[in-house]
Amino acid sequence: MQITVIGCGYVGLTTSVALAYIGHRVHCIDQNQERVQALQNGIVPMHEMGVAELLGQLRDRISFGRWDSFNLTTEVIIIAVGTPRKDNGEADTSYVEAVARELGQRLSGDGLPIIVNKSTVPIGSARRVESVVSYYLKSRGINIPVTVASNPEFLREGVALYDTFYPDRIVVGANQGEAINILREMYAPILEQTFIPPEFLPRPDSYNLPAFITTTPTSAELIKYAANTFLAMKISYINEIAGLAERVGADILEVARGIGLDKRIGVQYLNAGIGWGGSCFGKDVQALIHTAGQYDYDMPLSSATIQVNLRQREEIIRKLQSALKVLRGSTVGLLGLSFKPGTDDLRDAPSITVAKRLIEMGAHVKAYDPVAMENCRKSHPELDMLYANSAEELAHGSDALVLVTEWKEFLSLPYNQLGKLMRQKVIVDGRNVLDRQLLTEAGFNYIGVGR
Ligand code: NAI
Repeated sequence: MQITVIGCGYVGLTTSVALAYIGHRVHCIDQNQERVQALQNGIVPMHEMGVAELLGQLRDRISFGRWDSFNLTTEVIIIAVGTPRKDNGEADTSYVEAVARELGQRLSGDGLPIIVNKSTVPIGSARRVESVVSYYLKSRGINIPVTVASNPEFLREGVALYDTFYPDRIVVGANQGEAINILREMYAPILEQTFIPPEFLPRPDSYNLPAFITTTPTSAELIKYAANTFLAMKISYINEIAGLAERVGADILEVARGIGLDKRIGVQYLNAGIGWGGSCFGKDVQALIHTAGQYDYDMPLSSATIQVNLRQREEIIRKLQSALKVLRGSTVGLLGLSFKPGTDDLRDAPSITVAKRLIEMGAHVKAYDPVAMENCRKSHPELDMLYANSAEELAHGSDALVLVTEWKEFLSLPYNQLGKLMRQKVIVDGRNVLDRQLLTEAGFNYIGVGR
């Protein structure tokens, strides 16, 4: 099939590469000239495992351009532009609206393609896109029905390609059977797993074929927000229990295992720590609460999910304060900046909140991250922070280290040696992933979360 994807970000680019891999022809449009140029030269402007490799192999099936390269013969148009959070918590749909306007001004009357909304958007957005596109078409004398389906995305950054090839389910919300059939056809190689997996992403042995869930656009839009809020809530819940575990002297790792092995609960997303970050959880929970507010409906569980998460970040500062006594003049080294391993994404990253708070309190902050430092320099020039080239450089002269992102390489650092370079041997394990016994034996004051 001929597919156009609008927005070459984390979601748009991963989707484009996966769709091209399973046999479609994909043209990817972005308004950002720099991004388009990089992609045309085979450079992937973000860190996402496998995307650059596959892109290199698929040059004949995937192309990039700005809006002037929009091709009228496309059968499906996938909208994957950003929907960031506004100050009042609402999702900013202006990028989606701008795309709808462009489409209404460009599409022709014959063989109108199906428009698919993959961006995470407030309830009613499929209908809204439909009416904006129709309005601009009508103003050009084109009076035909427009079809907009909602097809929310559930991929996780860091393992985005894996999630796209091996999803648990694909959700399509549409009022027209024809749209559902076209999307079923588009996803057929994934739904039936008939494609040959890339060498570096083999199909897991235990993998079951994904469910194809068809519903209304409204339910599809709610499914996405409800899924993210539930996952965020699960993490906030275990973090709330972790706070109590600390006070009563229980170990949250054992508590979480004891809860999670109950199949009704599940072990995933039960890791206590510094809390969630990233571009989705915070903004989507807020957007759901905002939507509920428009119906004069409270969502206390969802609101508490956010509060607990903010408290987790503050707890790290409190722990440092109690170990170092005075933060002013202390040097704190942050191990990791990205909101999670496998990505250079810093949107709503706990590292940024922690760095800001420490700087406000007069501490010197240093940071080391395997991939996100350049992004951090660019996107947070306001942070008066030193960037270290290695964990050794980070440890040198530090009073405390804080493990913020659980990059694999941080698990096996030579902590014994690092400790010798430090002024005081304090380590706050913000993800509960380090070997407490080993660190304690190396003379560290080890501080975990909920332990
Ligand atoms: P992103 O910010 O990485 O990418 C968005 C891209 O859209 C940018 O390259 C931007 O230049 C482009 N764009 C904006 N307006 C445009 C326009 N009018 N015409 C052409 N291009 C335009 O965003 P990301 O992270 O890929 O997210 C996209 C959507 O997917 C959001 O709604 C997000 O909530 C949702 N989502 C994101 C996930 C993630 O892990 N990042 C996971 C699941 C859903």
